[in-house]
Amino acid sequence: MRERPDTRSDSGPTHARRTRLGATFAAAALILAACQGGGGDYPNQEITFIVPFSAGGPTDTVTRLIAGPMAEELGVEIVVQNVEGAGGTVAAGQVANEEPDGYTVLMHHIGMSTAPTLYSDLAYEPLEDFEMIGLVTEVPMTFVGSPDFEPNTMEELVDYVEANLDTVTYANAGIGAASQLCGLLFETATGLDLTEVPYDGTGPAMDDLLGNQVDFMCDQTTSTTDDILAGAVKPYAVTTAERLDTLPDIPTTEEAGLDLQVTVWHGLYVPADTPQEVVDALNAALVAALQNEDVATQLTDLGAPPVTEDRATPDAHRTLLAEQIELWRPIIEAAGVTAD
Ligand code: MLT
Repeated sequence: MRERPDTRSDSGPTHARRTRLGATFAAAALILAACQGGGGDYPNQEITFIVPFSAGGPTDTVTRLIAGPMAEELGVEIVVQNVEGAGGTVAAGQVANEEPDGYTVLMHHIGMSTAPTLYSDLAYEPLEDFEMIGLVTEVPMTFVGSPDFEPNTMEELVDYVEANLDTVTYANAGIGAASQLCGLLFETATGLDLTEVPYDGTGPAMDDLLGNQVDFMCDQTTSTTDDILAGAVKPYAVTTAERLDTLPDIPTTEEAGLDLQVTVWHGLYVPADTPQEVVDALNAALVAALQNEDVATQLTDLGAPPVTEDRATPDAHRTLLAEQIELWRPIIEAAGVTAD
C-alpha cells in the first residue's frame, strides 16, 4: 500500500480558539459583523477543507498542496477531511448544507459539472447552492495499466479489451468521478463496453492497479506521473492534444488513434450566501497559494500547473462550471449513462 499523507495541514500557525466574549462585547461584535456583511472578523477559527474522494488520490493531493500556504495566508489552521462516496456527490451535498460562514470549504473537480446529468436526484444544484472561490488547476489524464497487464500500447490495449471484454477490469472512482468520465469517453471512442470496478477514489484504485488486482484506469497526472516515471505502471496515452513536458515519451490519445480528449479542472466552493468578505478572503489566500513557488513547482512537476491569476477567480470558476455542465450533458445523455 502507498503511504497515506498526514490529514492535517501543518504549515499554518497554531490555531487559537475563539475566546468567550462578554454579553455586551458579543452583541457589539455581532452588530459589527452584520455591518460588514457577516464576514468582518473572518477567519477566527479552524477551517475544514472537504475532499470528496479518498486520501492519496489526485483531488486529495491538490488540496493538501494548497492547504498549507492558504492556512498561512489566512492565519488559521486548515484541516483536510476526506468525505467519500457516490463519485464525489456525498461531499458536495454535505457542504451545500453547511453554514455559509466560510469554515467548511469544498474542493471539487470536473465532477461538479457531470453530476447534474448523471444523478436525477442530486441533493444540490451546483450553480445555485455554492459560491465559487476560484479555479485551482487543470490536470491532464493518463491511461495506465497494471504492471502485469498484457498490452503495452494504446493500440494493443484497445485490441486486448475487445478480445477479453468479460475479464478486463477498468477502475474508477464512482459515477461522477473524472476516471468514470474518461472511461465513458473510452467506451464512446472504441464502441467497447467496459467492466468497471468502482472505488471511493483513485488513491485506493491505484494501489490495486499496482498490485495487479485491476487491469487499467484513466487517472490524473497528479496521481500517475511518479508511478509512470518509476516504471511502476504501463502508460498508454495522455488525454491532451499535445504531449506533456513532464511525460514526453507518452503519446497523446490522438497519436494512439483514440478520438478522446479530457482535462480535469479543480475549484474551491463554499455554501451559497457566504458573505462576500469571506469569499474574498478565501480567494486571496487561494491566489497566494497558487503563486507560492513551492506549490507551483510541485503542481507543475505533476503535469498540473496552477491556473493563472485571472482564472483563480469566482467569475472564471462560475463561467467554466456553467459551460462544462452544458458541454458534458449531451455527451453523457448520448452514452446513456446514469447513476440511477
Ligand atoms: C477521479 O477519478 O475523479 C479522481 O481521481 C478521484 C480522486 O481524486 O481520488
